Amino acid sequence: MVKIAPSILSADFANLERDIKIVENGGADYLHVDVMDGNFVPNISIGLPVVKSIRKITDLVLDVHLMIDKPHRYVKAFAEAGADIVVFHLEADLPEKIFEAVHTLRSLGKKVGLSIKPKTPVEMLWPFMSLLDMVLVMSVEPGFGGQEFMAEQVSKIRALREFVDREGLSCEIEVDGGLNPETARTCIEAGADVLVAGSAVFSAGDPAGMIKLLRG
Ligand code: DX5
Ligand code: ZN
Repeated sequence: MVKIAPSILSADFANLERDIKIVENGGADYLHVDVMDGNFVPNISIGLPVVKSIRKITDLVLDVHLMIDKPHRYVKAFAEAGADIVVFHLEADLPEKIFEAVHTLRSLGKKVGLSIKPKTPVEMLWPFMSLLDMVLVMSVEPGFGGQEFMAEQVSKIRALREFVDREGLSCEIEVDGGLNPETARTCIEAGADVLVAGSAVFSAGDPAGMIKLLRG
């Protein structure tokens, strides 16, 4: 069954513990934490202190999505703050630095994921695939919640599904941005393993019901 990762970007930050408990009790699999630096993306969100605090109040798998420049500078700190999976962007540094960040996380016993923005060809991921626990396909331009799903990104999910199956890898395929029950179905059919949803879950009257609907 597909996993659901609610993104706290759309939660009420003044009531973050309450909102996390709602999705935890509502059947979420992962908790998606969007970290933005105002440089790699045109927005600033949350960082290390918040990850540390969240770690104390939930047992959900913390899926930390770093939208920051030169992520190798910070991956160790996020691992130590309590992230279970640290995902960062292929576009955020030179390939050798990306490899360095992957190896840092591996040596700390953490799961590691790489993400690509909508304009990045999926083939750019191939050299990294055997080292990854997760690949994250952005189905909106990263930076903001509540944007419209870019349907043309679905072919990347299909290409990744084929690659992972052909090579016998255990890498999960995650999709992030613009997901609602309808777009979620398209992603599941294309072979996604994990769906991130921010506004769909947290603006729903019944977040638990929405999590179920997203699973299809
Ligand atoms: C966007 C973030 C997403 C965001 C998704 O840059 O990476 O995780 O929270 O929000 P929705 O589900 O509202 O598109
Ligand atoms: Zn995200």
